[in-house]
Amino acid sequence: MSDLAAPHILALTAYEPGKPEDELRRELGIDDVVKLASNENPYGPSPKVVEALRASSLQLERYPDPRGYELREALAAHHGVPSEQLCLGNGSNELIDLICRVFASRGDHAVFGHPSFPCYRIGSVAQELRFTAVPLRDDLHWNVDDLLDAVTPETKLLFVSNPNNPTGGYVTKRELERLLRSLPDRVLAVIDEAYVEYADAEDFAPATELRHMRERLAILRTFSKAYGLAALRVGYVLGTKELVFDLNRLRAPFNVGTLGQVAAKAALGDQPHLRTSVEATVRDRRKLAESLDAAGLRVAPSQGNFVLVDVEKPGRAVYEDLLREGVIVRAMGPPLQSWIRVTVGKPEENERFLHSLERVLKGSRV
Ligand SMILES: Cc1ncc(COP(=O)(O)O)c(C=O)c1O
Repeated sequence: MSDLAAPHILALTAYEPGKPEDELRRELGIDDVVKLASNENPYGPSPKVVEALRASSLQLERYPDPRGYELREALAAHHGVPSEQLCLGNGSNELIDLICRVFASRGDHAVFGHPSFPCYRIGSVAQELRFTAVPLRDDLHWNVDDLLDAVTPETKLLFVSNPNNPTGGYVTKRELERLLRSLPDRVLAVIDEAYVEYADAEDFAPATELRHMRERLAILRTFSKAYGLAALRVGYVLGTKELVFDLNRLRAPFNVGTLGQVAAKAALGDQPHLRTSVEATVRDRRKLAESLDAAGLRVAPSQGNFVLVDVEKPGRAVYEDLLREGVIVRAMGPPLQSWIRVTVGKPEENERFLHSLERVLKGSRV
């Protein structure tokens, strides 16, 4: 083992992203690949994004606007908040890391659920925080009491992915209110709403509606999912002016590129496109879940643009067999070793996945 990295970094294993399509093409020589592994939007961004990029006088030799003035103004109008309450990030991923670095220091404690988005743990470990990863209950839902019970006098940060990646479960409005109200004042509640656009349960509420309940609240949003701009890396935090001021103390200058800023503003401006692609995905999420259910498999009810399904065999082997079929999904770590997560794609992609899965499970090596 190398002694080059700091000891606490050696405790980390690199985040394993969804396999890129080209990698599978190179590795297995399969041309016809379907990627349903990274919860991207198969319909892509609004056509207005390409128009805006063409129309902008891109000066590639210049640094981007360091404060993202136009995008922040557009977001401020969209959310009905002052732009001082918004901080842009190179994807919301960067902001998770930044939050850990700005609001907690070595020895402080963080709380998050497990399984959930791995970057809460990575950000905590990198900052030498102690943490409690709170297990999901049997129904794969967060339990607010379990999260609250994990809070100690040293807890500085609490992360909730709502809806949760990878389970698709969510915290209801009432439960989220209870969490925001019951957390000790010193704790910063970080509500990660990467999939909020896909949540349609009647008792779901975005944290943006509950901001009056808690001052120490950071709401994370991204343009990578429903807005279809994963390639450009744009996310943002909505929080108090003071919270944004503190984030800016450490935020790398020019962290969001010019193309990302222009594209995100245009994408935000085309809400009808967003609605159309979200509606298609929500409809196909239901169909996909119904088909898997009809095949006798247990499916976790999802409020995201993905579905978690129990294949009742080692998920890693099923994942690998699906790769040979040209279908990329995601295998899960403990305690979900028999589950795979599949992003809701276009109807024909979902069909391809279903047929491949049927073949793989029938002829399974495992
Ligand atoms: C819950 C959650 N939060 C944040 C992210 C990071 O998204 P990005 O950095 O692309 O904004 C993801 C990506 O998969 C996610 O699932």
